[in-house]
Amino acid sequence: MSQFPVELLVCTRCRGGDDPADDDVRPGARLHQRLAETGLDGVRLTPVECLSNCAQGCTIALRGPGRWTYVYGRIVAEGDLAPVIDGARKYAASTDGLVPWRERPEHFRRNCIARIPPLETS
Ligand code: FES
Repeated sequence: MSQFPVELLVCTRCRGGDDPADDDVRPGARLHQRLAETGLDGVRLTPVECLSNCAQGCTIALRGPGRWTYVYGRIVAEGDLAPVIDGARKYAASTDGLVPWRERPEHFRRNCIARIPPLETS
């Protein structure tokens, strides 16, 4: 098992939609950079190029062995990172990735793009 059983994927190609696209660093890459600077205990941060949710802001996903995978969109690169950090910590604290609805950050409740069941292994 990995040192970090939970992984936060951040699309570094996202253009966001919230930020002007006239600089060299895309909003998704800025989001990844900000999260890397903040640090997430027990969560591996992994940059990826496109989660196929390109029209809905910056996109992230949470996954881990034996856990449901969740994809979230409309993350604002320059916005408050607290919901992402809070959501990732609660996801990591769960055994199966299922965080009770009322305990999820509001942004996660309103901007879940998909959830995917865990891979069944024997
Ligand atoms: S470029 Fe980020 S989801 Fe496609």
